[in-house]
Amino acid sequence: MNRRIRMVSVADAGRVAEIDHDVVADGRGAVLEVDQLPSVSVVAARIDALFAAQSAGVASTMLVAEEGGRVVGYAHREQLTPKRLQHVGVLDLAVDPAHQRRGHGRALMEALIEDSWSWGLLRLELYVRADNVRAAALYRSLGFVLEGTRRGFVRLPGGELVDDHIFCMWSPTSPAGQA
Ligand SMILES: CC(C)(COP(=O)(O)OP(=O)(O)OC[C@H]1O[C@@H](n2cnc3c(N)ncnc32)[C@H](O)[C@@H]1OP(=O)(O)O)[C@@H](O)C(=O)NCCC(=O)NCCS
Repeated sequence: MNRRIRMVSVADAGRVAEIDHDVVADGRGAVLEVDQLPSVSVVAARIDALFAAQSAGVASTMLVAEEGGRVVGYAHREQLTPKRLQHVGVLDLAVDPAHQRRGHGRALMEALIEDSWSWGLLRLELYVRADNVRAAALYRSLGFVLEGTRRGFVRLPGGELVDDHIFCMWSPTSPAGQA
């Protein structure tokens, strides 16, 4: 398969918005509803803001996976902004349901993790619905550990409460990672 991982560009906003739509419509792992999704112009503005933040030294970014020249997934990282939390990056990941289980999620995460250490981040976090076994399997296989559970954090439209897991990974160079 012809896969390429690269930095996002503002021109990708339409595909990123489509992937968000398709993942949310699929429902598995999602916390947003379809009517809450940002428009393409809002996604474009957020991508633009990522570049502006990076220019100012902030370790926030988005990588995309291309298959055959078409964007099929993305991985995003937001560095926390309070000075005492700036060693932490919060990640999220989505792959077009039509292109899942082809290694894009793993390739995106591996690239984003490496990029995170190169920025000097020490701790990476992911928030995962407890019923999202696919994402949890991926994160565990990459070395993330389950650190805690937010009981009933997600409330589905029918009223069912679903737990949410916090997964964490430490940089190999951080004291906590070596503990
Ligand atoms: C989670 C997600 C990003 C995985 O992307 P993907 O491109 O399908 O993943 P990959 O093909 O790289 O698979 C990586 C690993 O994920 C796990 N995985 C993926 N699909 C799975 C499935 N259907 N059942 C069990 N494990 C699965 C496996 O551990 C797999 O490794 P393996 O192929 O060596 O067994 C994708 O399912 C997705 O976008 N889901 C909806 C959004 C979401 O849940 N995002 C994460 C929120 S924190």
